[in-house]
Amino acid sequence: MPCTLDYSFVKECSWKPDLFKDKVVFITGGSGTICRVQAEALVLLGCKAALVGRDEEKLYETSRELCDLVNDKERCLAIPKVDVREFKDLENAVNLTLKKFGRIDFVIAGAAGNFICDFMNLSPNAFKSVVNIDLLGSFNTVKAVTPALLKSKGSILFVSATFHYYGVPFQGPVGAAKAGIDALSNNLAVELAPLGIRSNCIAPGAIDDTEGFKRLSKPELVESVKKMIPLQRLGTKRDIAEATVFMFSPAANYINGHVIVVDGGMWHTGTLF
Ligand code: HXC
Repeated sequence: MPCTLDYSFVKECSWKPDLFKDKVVFITGGSGTICRVQAEALVLLGCKAALVGRDEEKLYETSRELCDLVNDKERCLAIPKVDVREFKDLENAVNLTLKKFGRIDFVIAGAAGNFICDFMNLSPNAFKSVVNIDLLGSFNTVKAVTPALLKSKGSILFVSATFHYYGVPFQGPVGAAKAGIDALSNNLAVELAPLGIRSNCIAPGAIDDTEGFKRLSKPELVESVKKMIPLQRLGTKRDIAEATVFMFSPAANYINGHVIVVDGGMWHTGTLF
């Protein structure tokens, strides 16, 4: 049987330095650790980035550092004072992005809030805060960006988790919110794909040197956490970067309505630390 591919595949396949040249990504939570490395990877591959969030100082610093990384002052736009719970804030952020870059191709709905709390001590307002930031905030983000994505035939990546695949104690609000995010992503995968937009989730596991892992673990537990992970190591921020690049690349053109779990196989063990 003749081979399907020849050397033109090597020239035409996704993995090249200017993979995302002329593309624009809109990232909420863009100065947090997971979203920051996602932004770094896309920017290194030629993408322009709008970094959207609440913390003014952190966003400007991140934007400056990413511009320095590629030696291009125009590559990033920091849009601070945006609370993803407020749809108007996101509409304004989208308008600023379109004014600066003219288009939006990718969105990462990554802004998140989380804390460890058992159900008996969890107040209704605490539950609502996490669900509003994580789930409603993701909805607002994608809702505001979708008119631009329709023009670019763009792609959506939600940041999910694995907390809702089994019963994880003290993580009720975030588990409920992330389950909702998966459902929303699946819904959009079906509704928006005929219009040219893919929708997927990335679900990080225990990723070293991230805010999420620091909040959920303790330094003295790290060695035993590693032993619980089938791949016997924590995830790295680079693991998240690689998966993100894949999901936005043409290599994932037929992947829609999927959750890519980047956790070394951990959730299959049914243990969280
Ligand atoms: C119990 C808590 C609490 C805690 C706050 N609350 N912290 N309850 N345990 N540790 C309660 C408050 O008492 C209040 O309820 C309600 O939550 C709202 O608190 P506010 O401080 O007023 O809310 P807000 O300023 O909106 O802050 C939202 C927040 C906060 C989620 C509570 O932590 C936040 O903004 N976090 C953003 C940064 C973040 O969390 N990053 C984590 C990303 S990592 P009452 O009843 O008193 O009014 C991540 C990991 C995902 O998400 C999983 C990866 C594997």
